[in-house]
Amino acid sequence: MPRKLAAGNWKMNGCSPDLTEARRLREACPDPSVGVLICPPATLLSRLSDLLQDSPIATGGQDCHANGNGAHTGDIAAGMLADAGAAFVILGHSERRTDHAESNDTVRAKAEAAIAARLTTIICVGETKAEREAGDTLKVIAAQLAGSLPDGVTAENTVIAYEPVWAIGTGLVPTIDEIDETHEFIRTHLDARFESDTGEEISLLYGGSVKGSNAAEIFAVEHVNGALVGGASLKCDDFLPIIRALEAS
Ligand code: 13P
Repeated sequence: MPRKLAAGNWKMNGCSPDLTEARRLREACPDPSVGVLICPPATLLSRLSDLLQDSPIATGGQDCHANGNGAHTGDIAAGMLADAGAAFVILGHSERRTDHAESNDTVRAKAEAAIAARLTTIICVGETKAEREAGDTLKVIAAQLAGSLPDGVTAENTVIAYEPVWAIGTGLVPTIDEIDETHEFIRTHLDARFESDTGEEISLLYGGSVKGSNAAEIFAVEHVNGALVGGASLKCDDFLPIIRALEAS
């Protein structure tokens, strides 16, 4: 069975005072029956990891470089994230693909580096509004999966997040049928590519305007094993209902 995971992506939000939200979450949720993850900005990663040490809540980075070290001003190597306490790293988020022109090849190289550093990667795929309207959603996702996933993928080192670009931060959410269609397509694609049970066991997350109010119906979709949550992960009071909905699913 794929592991259930509620993952928070704080994006470029959060300074020292916001660690309080993670502290509150730790206290409100000392023994979750699903995986819980917070990916803060890099500036908070080490302190957040210390704060959540000995708790079941994991931490992760939001990106890493493909190289292990060197002259790459402003970048962070996968091993540095691990050194700061991270167990996960988000890769190929649409905001990275857009803001930093990250290609599938770039994402795959980063994933190889992250896996070598023993991080679990959360690799993001998803179509733009124009691509959906053109009927290209599944074609786009297939190309992103084919290009972004390295051959060394296992259910232990990789999670896939389906995030329609047009649903991120907009309050728009695909219909349940649309979420069902894309997740089943991703599962079939993974099954066809990876040996034995890997394709069946990789966790698939949905991301894009997930909130406490819509989480339960999204988690009821067959191949949805959790969520990658942006805005609603910033506050304990908003993230906790999503975690509870996943536990109840
Ligand atoms: P929102 O939950 O704010 O729509 O963001 C989704 C996302 O991009 C998570 O990575």
